[in-house]
Amino acid sequence: MSAETLHLVGHPLVQHKLSLMRERDRSIKSFRELLNEIGMLLCYEVTRDLPLELVDIETPIAAMKAPMIAGKKLTLAPILRAGVGFLDGMLALVPSARVAHIGLYRDPKTLQAVEYFFKAPQDLSDRMVILMDPMLATGNSACAAAALLKTRGARDIRFVCLLAAPEGIAQFQNEHPDIPIWTAAVDEKLNDHSYIVPGLGDAGDRMFGTK
Ligand code: URA
Repeated sequence: MSAETLHLVGHPLVQHKLSLMRERDRSIKSFRELLNEIGMLLCYEVTRDLPLELVDIETPIAAMKAPMIAGKKLTLAPILRAGVGFLDGMLALVPSARVAHIGLYRDPKTLQAVEYFFKAPQDLSDRMVILMDPMLATGNSACAAAALLKTRGARDIRFVCLLAAPEGIAQFQNEHPDIPIWTAAVDEKLNDHSYIVPGLGDAGDRMFGTK
C-alpha cells in the first residue's frame, strides 16, 4: 500500500459518525444523514490543498488582497447508487461544482463492474474530478469508474470513500497509481461475498431501504 496516495481521515467527528453508521440497528434516516455529514467532512479534507490566489476586495473598512480558490473547477463524480449519499454534503461546501453521474453495478456472479450510465460535463480535462463511492471493496467499480473518467479526458482525479478493504486499495493503486485515495477507515478484509468485514453492510441498501 502506497503511503503517499492513501489519506486516512482520522478526524474524531468522522470516526464517531462512521461508528454510528456501522451499527446494525441504525435507522435509514440516520444512516443517510450521517453519510451526508461525513461527505461534507471528507470534502473538506480532499480539497485541503486547492490553490489560492489573492484577489482585490473591499471590506467595509479597507481595501485588501484576500485569498480565494484559484480557477480550479471541480466536478463531483458519484458512482451510482451509493456514491450519491456523499453528494449533498459535498455540494453544500462547493455549490458551484459540476456533477458527473457514473452508473455501474456489480455483476453478482463475476463481481465485475458493468456500466449502465455515464453523463459528465464536456470539459473534464481542465477540472479536478472527485470520484466517490462509500465502499472500496474489491475495487472493481472504482477502477472501472476511474478508467471511464480518464477516457473522457479527466487527468486530475481524486477518489473518496468511507470504508476501504485492503484488497480494494491494492487493486485501485495497482490500476490507478496516479489517483490518491481518501478514506475514513481501512477495515480487515473482504468476506466470501466481497463484503467488507467488519464494514457496515450494503451501503446502498442501508441508504435507500431496499433490503
Ligand atoms: N458494497 C457495500 O455496500 N458494502 C460492502 O461491504 C461491499 C461493497
